[in-house]
Amino acid sequence: MLKIGYCSLVIGYLISVRILAIETSCDETSASIVEGINGAIRIFSNAVGSQIQTHARYGGVVPELAARRHAELIVELVKLAVGEFKGSDIDAVAVTYGPGLMVCLLVGIETAKGLSYAWGKPFIAVNHLEGHVYSIFGEGAMGYSRDVGKATVSADFFEKPSIALVVSGGHTELIVVERYGCYKLLGRTRDDAAGEAFDKVAILLGLSYPGGPSISAAAETGDPQAYAMPRAMLDSHNFDFSFSGIKTHVKNAIKKLGRASAIVPHIAASFQEAVCDTLVAKTVAAAFYYNVGRIIVTGGVSANARLREKFAEAAAQTGIACYFPGKALTGDNAAMIGIAGYLKHLHTKRYDDIFTIRPNPDLKWENLP
Ligand code: KG4
Ligand code: ZN
Repeated sequence: MLKIGYCSLVIGYLISVRILAIETSCDETSASIVEGINGAIRIFSNAVGSQIQTHARYGGVVPELAARRHAELIVELVKLAVGEFKGSDIDAVAVTYGPGLMVCLLVGIETAKGLSYAWGKPFIAVNHLEGHVYSIFGEGAMGYSRDVGKATVSADFFEKPSIALVVSGGHTELIVVERYGCYKLLGRTRDDAAGEAFDKVAILLGLSYPGGPSISAAAETGDPQAYAMPRAMLDSHNFDFSFSGIKTHVKNAIKKLGRASAIVPHIAASFQEAVCDTLVAKTVAAAFYYNVGRIIVTGGVSANARLREKFAEAAAQTGIACYFPGKALTGDNAAMIGIAGYLKHLHTKRYDDIFTIRPNPDLKWENLP
């Protein structure tokens, strides 16, 4: 449950802040100690309590159950993350305040406010999606340039704009990160998020929850060209996505072919290929349209090996560098919230007020920082 790592990524600043970060926006309860010091980000701990067991039988997250589980786990996870540190060793408390499920956000926010007040330490409210974007500053991040695998996130990160794709169970969003705190939403899914499509298709195929890992495992022995699947909205002349139609194609394929063990890998591989193609095509098109030389791909679905392979191919073909977080930071976790909290304080030079910050389930990019 507890993961201790070290990342020596230099981002070129000289402010030292040790942050306790908390994340409870959806179905992972997480607490982490992150330190930004002498220009490096160090993750001391990243304790993640998964609720997969709780939600597996429903094939998706049940908000009330998730909130109850957060309440049960949060103190234990904070203790695990804090370890030997004392309140006096912590400089600030950061927490996700949106977007997310209201009842879930409340658990993390009230815990963080309580600790901030009790310890007399400043409070930082973090956007969950900004956390995903900046997870590439954490340990194990991987970049693909023309020399595949050689790129690293460099000190001049905020000097040039990036295109960020946040792709998870709840979100599929394309953003231009102009510089720190300056974001423009280019497009988003009009229906299901890509991760949600993986989860729903896994149910149709009789695979386990969450669908991303089980479909990608089944796809390993399948032929991605076996069945024609739609690449929706590729000609839409905008940067929106749609992943609900592909479910119907999977349903029809199953009706026609059944779901015997010889068939499932081919459907899984064909589905995965179509989703990955769409994500890569739209993201690369956005990078060309906005003349941006760097793509960041984050969120739970960014763990997908085929997606990484396809972005690596695109990087080699186009010269646009593509970055992914370390695998431990792809899904929801508090370390990414700590990193985003550090960057927020670094760039805005301010903290937030525990008496005015409220959970914001619909937090928008425009509301930031
Ligand atoms: O970021 P995350 O942990 O939570 C949300 O904020 O939603 O993402 C969870 C999603 C799930 O839908 C899961 O099926 C998907 O990420 N996922 C994957 C993979 N691993 C997790 N999707 C495709 N391939 C994977 N390897
Ligand atoms: Zn997330």
